[in-house]
Amino acid sequence: MKVIEAKQDLRQALANVKKDERTIGFVPTMGFLHDGHISLMRRAREENDIVVASIFINPAQFGAGEDLDVYPRDRQGDCEQMINAHVDIAFLPDVETIYPEGFNTVVEVEGQMTQVLCGQSRPTHFKGVTTVVAKLLNLVSPDRAYFGQKDAQQISVVRKMVKDLDFNVQIVDCPIVREPDGLAMSSRNAYLTPEQRGNAPVLFQSLCSAEEMIADGERSAAVIVNAIEKRIHTVENAVIDYISIVNTNTLQELDTIGGSTLIALAVKFGKTRLIDNIRLEI
Ligand code: PAF
Repeated sequence: MKVIEAKQDLRQALANVKKDERTIGFVPTMGFLHDGHISLMRRAREENDIVVASIFINPAQFGAGEDLDVYPRDRQGDCEQMINAHVDIAFLPDVETIYPEGFNTVVEVEGQMTQVLCGQSRPTHFKGVTTVVAKLLNLVSPDRAYFGQKDAQQISVVRKMVKDLDFNVQIVDCPIVREPDGLAMSSRNAYLTPEQRGNAPVLFQSLCSAEEMIADGERSAAVIVNAIEKRIHTVENAVIDYISIVNTNTLQELDTIGGSTLIALAVKFGKTRLIDNIRLEI
């Protein structure tokens, strides 16, 4: 695996790949890799000739008072995991490389898609995500880019940007990878105290109960949201940020459940904000 930090080295390393018309699969990450990330790399490995993965903790997608300074890092461990996942190129730029002095451009998907769900409590988050993803897609020019379904809103927003700006890339979304007790894998799980970690599986449990209610015929979004809320409140110190039922593609709120449905939630355990979701076709 080649470890590359500079943009010109990345371009050089990819020049021959492109000349030979070999396909490139790209996995953008913020590092502190877990099996969720590795599943994206393995999928990219299966579907492409060359796999590029990036690690960049993107300051632009963290709001004031969020966890940028303490975001977990493990460069050596990450590199070992990427080697095991048969990544060809690890792109590890620093902040100056991505945002050089004088950088003054943003890419933003405007409108309700970035204002709902996580956008309500993280109003600048998606602007940071689309700006860095646009830059990374331009640098790597992949045929396919891989994202985890845990960040369902991120996938919808990135797809919209790719469509609106005619990026020539296929966005591939991959299933959530969960711990044995159902907790969705996330680098932020590392922040949880043992007690919070014990309580956190309630998120997935509440989503599974919602799925059962829908399978039994319930179609009122309000009734389902209420049931999820009650279930989450069976554990102590879980503070709900949002529970929303939306159309998967448009992220428009649904009153009556039907079609391509995303049930998404964000809940805080202490300072740690966790997200989870399920997607249903009804
Ligand atoms: O999902 C993430 O880890 C980040 O939002 C991404 C896509 C790497 C952009 O910084």
